[in-house]
Amino acid sequence: PEDLLCSYKGVLYPVTHCSAETFKALESFEARSDDVLLVGYPKTGTNWIVHILRDLVTTSAKKNEEEMKRMKQDEEIVEYTYLEFGDPGKFQRIKKLSSRRVFATHVFPHMLPTSIFKNNVKILMVIRNPKDIAVSYFHFSNSIPSLPSFKTWDEFFNAFLNGKVSWGSYFDHIIEWNKHFDDENIMFITYEELKENSNLGVKKIAEFFGFSVTNEESQAVADRNSFQTMKENSHKTHGAFGNVLFRKGSVSDWKNLFTEAQNQEMDKKFEESLAGTKLGAKIKY
Ligand code: PPS
Repeated sequence: PEDLLCSYKGVLYPVTHCSAETFKALESFEARSDDVLLVGYPKTGTNWIVHILRDLVTTSAKKNEEEMKRMKQDEEIVEYTYLEFGDPGKFQRIKKLSSRRVFATHVFPHMLPTSIFKNNVKILMVIRNPKDIAVSYFHFSNSIPSLPSFKTWDEFFNAFLNGKVSWGSYFDHIIEWNKHFDDENIMFITYEELKENSNLGVKKIAEFFGFSVTNEESQAVADRNSFQTMKENSHKTHGAFGNVLFRKGSVSDWKNLFTEAQNQEMDKKFEESLAGTKLGAKIKY
């Protein structure tokens, strides 16, 4: 199973999606100031928010049907959306995509090209209860062939706590992004608040990126991207991967898997590493 993963600068990644060559090419990727960037650790709800963002781009651009169809085709190429995915040659191809481009990434901030910060690209960061992330990641790892599977939940729990999973440690990820907490061009949203009131969350996201949408339009974006609707359409949007990705989409599913000892261990780890950070303070666990 080890050959499913590669290590780059001390962090593990699945070889089916990531390579040293693409990470190198990413360093000189030229971001545009109007690019839309979503960052988040795996299993925080990135696919959900990418769809919301694309929907906001097309809704606010009020493009004609032909243009929208073309934009959608380009954007639905997963390697174009996730900055660290695919072959290094893709950066030439995404140069041709029309604005505004929507990108997402699970990487630490120091892995991103300097152009993102230099050009003041607006960044939305999604955060989620690490206990729910761990449970989601466990089921995901055991359901897709590109990631190593784990015999038991206990085994996964230990790997997660020690950062021995793809994209590295959740805790380090938060520590590194916390350094950008006071950046002017970053906004934070929690999975839980977006789930609780999707309409309000979509409105906040639209306002941050400067998308002009009416109340009705933002409500429609929220509805079109609800868990149920996305799950129902997933064969079209995500193919067979959809069955794995749209698992439960709920809050507090961790209670079904964590033992009391694991709960305490995670609390302790969180308190030791993140409780003193501004970003950590936003995370409910
Ligand atoms: S990945 O593979 O790392 O990119 O996964 P990611 O998309 O970040 O996260 C997957 C989890 O998000 C849930 N999800 C949603 N929740 C609410 N509403 C919508 N529309 C939605 N779409 C995806 C998905 O079900 C995964 O969480 P779990 O807890 O496993 O169900």
